[in-house]
Amino acid sequence: MELIDKLKWRYAAKAMNGKTVAEDKIERILEAARLAPTSSGLQPFEIFVIKNQEIKEKIKPVAWNQSVVTDCSHLLVFAAWDTYTADRINHMFDLTNEIRGFENQGWEDYRQLLLNSYPQKDAEVNFNHAAKQAYIAFSQAITAAAFENVDATPLEGFDADAVDEILGLREKGLRSAVLLPLGYRKEDKDWLVNLVKVRKPMEELVTVMD
Ligand SMILES: Cc1cc2nc3c(=O)[nH]c(=O)nc-3n(C[C@H](O)[C@H](O)[C@H](O)COP(=O)(O)O)c2cc1C
Repeated sequence: MELIDKLKWRYAAKAMNGKTVAEDKIERILEAARLAPTSSGLQPFEIFVIKNQEIKEKIKPVAWNQSVVTDCSHLLVFAAWDTYTADRINHMFDLTNEIRGFENQGWEDYRQLLLNSYPQKDAEVNFNHAAKQAYIAFSQAITAAAFENVDATPLEGFDADAVDEILGLREKGLRSAVLLPLGYRKEDKDWLVNLVKVRKPMEELVTVMD
């Protein structure tokens, strides 16, 4: 199947059947998220992979009781940095130097530019910026899941403070941004499964300027 066919196949499953997704598929979905581009390459987020049923059961009531939270196979929690700090910025710049094996003045100047701007900003502004980056990885994970014929339900309907508390994210300098249950659709219990996908026509979305 071509990518577009896979994207037409995918939908935000409202019911999942509890079947386990093979670990090699999960690994490739996470790899797609890891490979996502991010602003300045900072990857200002972490991904928690919840397989533990008890933790899923704790999250469900603070996620509008959505059944996919407990009936999924793996629940991904995209947690963004609560702010940008010098340590966090330096870590990614140092990692780049280490992996590439050389230092470059332009890159070091760019490091200083970020160090002189991001950490001084309001933490909420920084979290929102970091969360946007997490959404890019989240989106790639959704596409990768479709590629693997795995259902994924993007999920913003949850109490972020409560999820942070359950997972102890604040102590780690993280805040939950968005959830992604991965699993398999339960066709006979899902009202959405046979409904036609609705998207704006291309001309409402795209303006071409020659
Ligand atoms: C960021 C985001 C948050 C969403 N949150 C929820 C949610 O909490 N519960 C839910 O059932 N669907 C949720 N959705 C699914 C959307 O309603 C769905 O993707 C949209 O209507 C398009 O339909 P489709 O994904 O089935 O093609 C969310 C989607 C996105 C991208």
